[in-house]
Amino acid sequence: MFKQIIQTKGVSKMLFGIDTRNDDDWWIGVKAPDIRHLSKYESLMFQGNGYLGIRGALEERYLNEKRDMFVMGSFDKFQDEATELPNLPDIVNMEIQVDGKLLSLNHGIVTNYSRGLNLKNGEIVRSFDWQIEDIKLHFKFRRFVSMADCHLFVSKVEVTPLNRNIRLQIKSGIDGQQTNFGTQHFVESTKRLFNARFVQMQTHTQQSQVKFALTEYHRLFLDEEELSLNPHLEINRRQIFANYSVDLVKNQELVFIKYATVFSSTDKDLQKNVSEDSLIELKQVGRMDYQELLRQSSQVWDETIWNDCLVEISAHNNKPQIAVNFARYQLLANMPHDFGMNIGAKGMTGEGYKGHAFWDTEIFMLPFFMFNIPQFAQNLLIYRYLGLIGAKRKAHQGGYQGAQYPWEAAMPTDAESAPLWGNADIITGEPMKILSGSTEQHVTGDVAFGVTQYLKATNDQTFAKRMGYEIILQCAKFWASRITWNNEKNRYEITDVIGPDEYKEHASNDAFTNYMAHWCMKQGAEIISDLRQNDLRTYEKLNKKINLEKLFRSLILKSAMLYVPAPNADSVIPQDDDYLSYKKINIDKYKKTNKNFDIFKDFDLKQLDKLQVTKQADVLLLLLLFEDDFSKEVLDKNWDYYEPKTTHDSSLSFSSHAILANDLGLYNRAFDYFENSCQIDLGKNMDSSIMGLHMAGLAGVWKVVVEGFGGVRIDHDNLRIQPHIPKTWNYLRYSIIWQTKKLNILVTHRHFSIVADGRVKFIHQKRIYQLEPDERLTIEL
Ligand code: BGC
Repeated sequence: MFKQIIQTKGVSKMLFGIDTRNDDDWWIGVKAPDIRHLSKYESLMFQGNGYLGIRGALEERYLNEKRDMFVMGSFDKFQDEATELPNLPDIVNMEIQVDGKLLSLNHGIVTNYSRGLNLKNGEIVRSFDWQIEDIKLHFKFRRFVSMADCHLFVSKVEVTPLNRNIRLQIKSGIDGQQTNFGTQHFVESTKRLFNARFVQMQTHTQQSQVKFALTEYHRLFLDEEELSLNPHLEINRRQIFANYSVDLVKNQELVFIKYATVFSSTDKDLQKNVSEDSLIELKQVGRMDYQELLRQSSQVWDETIWNDCLVEISAHNNKPQIAVNFARYQLLANMPHDFGMNIGAKGMTGEGYKGHAFWDTEIFMLPFFMFNIPQFAQNLLIYRYLGLIGAKRKAHQGGYQGAQYPWEAAMPTDAESAPLWGNADIITGEPMKILSGSTEQHVTGDVAFGVTQYLKATNDQTFAKRMGYEIILQCAKFWASRITWNNEKNRYEITDVIGPDEYKEHASNDAFTNYMAHWCMKQGAEIISDLRQNDLRTYEKLNKKINLEKLFRSLILKSAMLYVPAPNADSVIPQDDDYLSYKKINIDKYKKTNKNFDIFKDFDLKQLDKLQVTKQADVLLLLLLFEDDFSKEVLDKNWDYYEPKTTHDSSLSFSSHAILANDLGLYNRAFDYFENSCQIDLGKNMDSSIMGLHMAGLAGVWKVVVEGFGGVRIDHDNLRIQPHIPKTWNYLRYSIIWQTKKLNILVTHRHFSIVADGRVKFIHQKRIYQLEPDERLTIEL
């Protein structure tokens, strides 16, 4: 029986490029030192609290490492390069010498190695024995970024010589010689010592002039007795280190604790100035021990985070559970602590995409936050409200009206932050112009779509009136000015855009873009008419900023005349005007390699532009977002048409395919695509995450579990729950928040049961159910 199950499709056979434990759903790590793939592990073992983000580089240095530490929202721009999150001076480093021999996993004999990240509280623990010549030692490193105090990083090392007395030297400090792959964003700094113990670096970014103070304090304990040792200071260009030297007898344990605080002039909680705040705070926390500070941080994780977002999967093995825990951990560790910021496509987990945010936020990440911690979702949308300034400027620069959101967003008030040039073309050898910034315009519909979803899920009227409606109306106004009249065809059209399929750089009437624009204009018109009838106060307030009657007339007229490509005779929605006339090729060989952009070994972008090959869920995503508008036949036919033509060269693609496949009853395909989603970062491809994790892909893991298998969807204005779990799972349990009520849902193969802490209405199989507070309803499947 057991063997049979293993053969069955639907059993998780996920292969991870990192170790996991069968009995621990919250641990990822490595059981042997693997110096070849440091960068992958640095991304996977990211630690953060939404303010501070630190890659999981090892304490001691290695050649192929990429140390990165970012402060959310502290963007800087270097000459002609694109704005980016500057890589801060490193505070993680430790150089350890044993009788003059430098600790390195490349030398000596390493045994009993284990390094892991606890996904529940973000602590990294590494332990091993190291033998160098005739000396044997035991090391244990631990560290965390505090969820209880966003400025705080704490790290601890325990060292025990196992076979003889030794002299131990530890050098630890602040190393400002970091760059963003060569670009140094920080000016030479002020480095100094306070009270003979606290080392501090003050610096600022070159262009944006964001000031930083980083302060470190160290404590040493020998056999639990604190040593009163002042450091020997070492100061170099952009570096300040504290050196300690201690004699240890055999079996004596030295404990070394590093406390570090990071403050920036962008902090809203700044009391005096970055330098003083950093020092004062460090003096306070430096009195507490590591365990107590970790306890405080873990408590915040438990009480204000994990309590609010339950996902429990009982399956053949714990890989799916680990994958969804990993995904949620990373989303939460990267969730801005403040409302003026957004989550970059790679969060703060690496330098990829320079910290910029995309449509990834509204279409992929927002649902996780709005269904779990709506306050966080609101923060992300406030960022877009603040971004209206930049978006209006971008629209104006392009000769349009309203607000046009940037394809790549950095500071909310910036207009477009996308770089202009990319890699060299493999055929011509010339650098390729990146057109997304000017041409990938659907983001302006996606932002409005996200706001609407949030309003439906939360019923947050205050946000709607203060900010939400204005965002949607400004987006609608943009579309009304962006569409162009085609005299011959007697209709409005949208020409020359890039849709989600970025292989097509000059698409006309791209289905995704046209539907989004059409929906957005209709939504704008509905809001105006609704406010006019029901909320004159808000109407008048908005009317002072936007001429609502004029906008209303233009939205009604233009949305009615905008061409939205309907399904053709074969029920297929043309991806754009030309796609269906392009040559078809078989792309199986590129799909099999599971490596992104393999197709570019054979074709350049100009060639792909003229082939029926699609980069990621495009028409299929459209069908998923607007599923109520299409029949099952249209969904089936488009799946059959586009799925074989999609390379999944974007991490955004798998989750949409998984959810749609589950909806269509293609359960094995859904499960395969779910596994693909889980493996984007955790999988065996050791190059996939070196520049950082794929935040939208991670959100996609949660989406497949809760929106796909758990069946949670917004159907018009209602909550719909239509679950179907993979056949080898025993059950799925999850919670969501719907219009301020918390729902707990348990799904098995035969039934699902649901209980809520307030009165809730939901739809299942087209029937409306009304749930009373604390009543448990069980529905047969
Ligand atoms: C995808 C975009 C996405 C971006 C950032 C690209 O590869 O095609 O849709 O927004 O990555 O994740």
